[in-house]
Amino acid sequence: MLDNSPQRTAALEVKGLKIYYETPAGDVRAVDDVSFTLYEGETLGFVGESGCGKSTASMGILQLITPPGRIVAGEVRLDGQNLLELSEEELRRQRWEKLSLIPQGAMNSLNPTMRISAQFRDVIQTHEGKQPKAKLKQRILDLFQTVGLPARIYSMYPHELSGGMKQRVCIAMGIALNPKVIIADEATSALDVVVQRVVAQTMLKVKKALGVSMIMIGHDMGLMAQMVDRIAVMYAGHIAEIATVEQMFRRPGHPYSQVLIDSVPSLTERQALRVVEGITHDPRNPPKGCIFQLRCPHAMDVCRREPPERREIEPGQEVACHLWQRQPDGRYADVRQSA
Ligand SMILES: Nc1ncnc2c1ncn2[C@@H]1O[C@H](COP(=O)(O)OP(=O)(O)O)[C@@H](O)[C@H]1O
Ligand code: SF4
Ligand SMILES: [Mg+2]
Repeated sequence: MLDNSPQRTAALEVKGLKIYYETPAGDVRAVDDVSFTLYEGETLGFVGESGCGKSTASMGILQLITPPGRIVAGEVRLDGQNLLELSEEELRRQRWEKLSLIPQGAMNSLNPTMRISAQFRDVIQTHEGKQPKAKLKQRILDLFQTVGLPARIYSMYPHELSGGMKQRVCIAMGIALNPKVIIADEATSALDVVVQRVVAQTMLKVKKALGVSMIMIGHDMGLMAQMVDRIAVMYAGHIAEIATVEQMFRRPGHPYSQVLIDSVPSLTERQALRVVEGITHDPRNPPKGCIFQLRCPHAMDVCRREPPERREIEPGQEVACHLWQRQPDGRYADVRQSA
């Protein structure tokens, strides 16, 4: 159960993160002023359609952006330390040991010419130095057990494993060095529906067993809602809304959150909003004002003039949308209802 009390401790804080890709026609603003806090022990989901900047943000948090990409601004605080200020050497230590990423498509980047055991030995010994053989083997077998993999895959090659097993291998690698924070980018997306659920359950089991904080990235609002404590909805490099799963489904504050919720199959009897599909503006030249205005059925004049700030419309629910206005009693109300 999510502890909603204000005493929660931050495991990871991201402030004002901007990551742009240079192209001949101008910078693509893949991540544009993203701020959020991941609390200790929680699972935070990032949802949004393809191209909204989820993978770029996760790579940025780990400082793995390479040209033509660059981090333009921001802070990434882990244990109070800004990772963007560390030297490459210090960063290498923190990465994987404190903060690990299971990148999108990880299971396809396992080395096809190396046995699974050798790939684990590499990861562990690169960070911790040479280890006694028997101890190392036991540690790898324990990792297999944590993610529900049979010991017999120890000497196998990646091509001998199913997709679900390969994905579990990647999860086991992500936890091999006991990080505090794990980011899993579309860890279940490439799998079929049944395996998706099994792998999702494995991740939750791992999270519980290790007591880590986790960011899960995906594009399926329905699947995400079953796995996480809070959801951050991302649109075109911006966070549109952050809320608990319960708040998000009870009363989504942002029109784009509503679109994602309406796309969940079991909820299709809801009246779907009529919106244009896909990111419509040129990512090198975003419109002035709200980033969602070209698709939003509720866009007003102010939306075309000023970008909406993210505001807490009730404790734990933050929304970046002009529809929410502060009332004389201090509370926020949706102008459509209060008009
Ligand atoms: N190497 C690159 N060069 C130029 N643009 C890129 C590059 N990589 C990603 N992008 C752009 O950045 C945006 C965000 O991409 P990405 O982070 O992969 O989104 P997501 O993971 O949400 O699908 C997209 O508009 C994408 O086209
Ligand atoms: S700020 Fe305006 S355009 Fe943007 S989501 Fe809200 S109502 Fe729609
Ligand atoms: Mg991605």
